[in-house]
Amino acid sequence: MDPREYAVCPITEFTEGSRLLVRVGDEEVGIFNVGGRLVAYQNRCAHQGGPVCRGRILGRWVEDLNSAKEVVGGHHSSDMDLVCPWHGWEYDLLTGRNIADPSISLKAVEVVVRDGMVYVRADSATRTPEAVPAHE
Ligand code: FES
Repeated sequence: MDPREYAVCPITEFTEGSRLLVRVGDEEVGIFNVGGRLVAYQNRCAHQGGPVCRGRILGRWVEDLNSAKEVVGGHHSSDMDLVCPWHGWEYDLLTGRNIADPSISLKAVEVVVRDGMVYVRADSATRTPEAVPAHE
């Protein structure tokens, strides 16, 4: 079945740094504006299916090493991570890849902007997306 497009909201309502959870058919999808780029994932953690898209978003902590590879400090980078609220698995918000094991990823959902509207493409959708609360 070809994916269908579902209108979510005008792009003007989706400001940089914002997140929107929508239900498309049986699937909950998290859409994120990351520095002006839109990314979307199924709201199921690759670990045990937790509601990862409802998790905290943090700047990635990067350890500073000296020439002997010893940790001498650290800082937050501009990369943003999404932290699953169930057991703390972390994912790169822009790519969906797990930080500890990049071979593991969130399932991406295609999101497009056309004529000022944000759309998601989904196979199983049977109705218009509806917004769901970002936190339970
Ligand atoms: S279900 Fe997400 S970390 Fe376990």
